[in-house]
Amino acid sequence: MASFFKNRDIISITDFTKEEILYLCKVGKSMYEKEKKGERHSLSGNLKNRTLASMFYEPSTRTRFSFHTAIRELGGGCDGFSGTEGTSVMKKETIRDTIMMMGANHFDAIVMRHPLDGSIQWAADVANIPVINGGDGKNEHPTQALLDILTLYMMNNENLDGISIGFGGDLSHGRTIRSLSLALSHFRDVTIRWAAEDFLGMPGDLTDLLEERGVRVIRDPHVRTVLEHVDFFYMTRPQIERMEGVTQKQIMEMMDRYRINSEKVEGLKVKLMHPLPVNSEVAEIDYPVYFSSAQAFFLQAEFGIFLRKALLYEMLSTETYLPFQSTLPGELAAGNNRLYRAGREKKKEGMFIDTISSGTVIDHLKPGTLKKVEASLDLENRGYSCIAASIQGKKNPFLKTNLARLTERDLKRIALVSPEPTINHIENEKVAQKYVYLLCSNANCVSRVITEDVPPKFYADNSTVRCRYCRRPLRIESRKVTEEDRQRFIQSLPPGIDQVKYD
Ligand code: CP
Repeated sequence: MASFFKNRDIISITDFTKEEILYLCKVGKSMYEKEKKGERHSLSGNLKNRTLASMFYEPSTRTRFSFHTAIRELGGGCDGFSGTEGTSVMKKETIRDTIMMMGANHFDAIVMRHPLDGSIQWAADVANIPVINGGDGKNEHPTQALLDILTLYMMNNENLDGISIGFGGDLSHGRTIRSLSLALSHFRDVTIRWAAEDFLGMPGDLTDLLEERGVRVIRDPHVRTVLEHVDFFYMTRPQIERMEGVTQKQIMEMMDRYRINSEKVEGLKVKLMHPLPVNSEVAEIDYPVYFSSAQAFFLQAEFGIFLRKALLYEMLSTETYLPFQSTLPGELAAGNNRLYRAGREKKKEGMFIDTISSGTVIDHLKPGTLKKVEASLDLENRGYSCIAASIQGKKNPFLKTNLARLTERDLKRIALVSPEPTINHIENEKVAQKYVYLLCSNANCVSRVITEDVPPKFYADNSTVRCRYCRRPLRIESRKVTEEDRQRFIQSLPPGIDQVKYD
């Protein structure tokens, strides 16, 4: 069954089928049993000569160390960085180039954590070795969900059907609740109960999706009520670093009623889980609870090692290695984000192109953005003309330039200031090409960072357009885009990412 995971990228928990999750639980259990029988090193020949690159752009204790421990106990090696100080990221090296260096240094796989959503999918697109998501922005942390599932499997007599689990803390800004609840939605008769402040509550899109997938989701006003009705309770840390305009004091107040203390768990059989770390200032789990029979989060952390051993064993235990490829595939050079508009012959020619015979007209800029777009392109200092214009009675201004082709960075700069600009390429006084330049609307997506040069790409998830990297849906707002244009665009997109298996 090792072919499930051989050399596979691990990007999102939604890429795993129920069968694959259960298979990893079985292998993880065998890793646990070997440890308990004193056979920790019995697999130490399995990944001999295999090396893992550990690229942590953000802080981590558990994820980083447990991958290091896992590869070491399987006989392999590990090297990398924790924080970018001391690396050439400080000299503005891109993710792409840093990833290429890992291949050039003959690593067999990469585990990476990065603050940008979708950065790990981009890294996986670049690398010809498998890449494991150790956490991307507030997007995904699939191996955390898998270790949580393994913990539940082991504590629940190797059964994930019929689980009742409570969620508390911050269910809105973290990665773990989304990933864990979606993994659980593969199983029958699952109940999720939760209690939290509105601001920290479960996102509506997630509860809708879970309910669609047959999970019972119940909100309770009190944590004690949740604790009384579930076998497991999963507490989470308020992710203050991902909240804008909220102070620690406000969060402390919001958490007041929802902290887990000894009185709340007294007399109950519930097992307390937490992805860790606990924030010692917020103290979402009160200190005395650490010494109660409810505490299961340190066990959960050790299951992280068994799960990651299982995963690396399945991914990398092969005789052959993937040799470094110093050339990049052509598909990485360009995006598929140009939505071509039909019917340009209807446009009154001359309106845009009266002063240029060849060049570009940047149209449908949002009111009030013209100056900023102009400044961001800096065309005149680059030796091109730049004329700002508008048509009487129309509110959207436009820019005309004799620059025939804007670079991808130029186009991103425009779209970041004024989303969905229409770009008209003018040749011989005619509009030769007209398209709306689309950019992922998730402000934290890697594809929006100009200096990373990630080509914006989308895929069609039925009628929903999603970003290839962060997988968020894209709503096309431009009123200039007809339904026919939109359908043609959707049909031009790939139907998914190789790994996507929403079932
Ligand atoms: N649970 C978790 O991801 O912990 P770290 O941030 O310490 O890796």
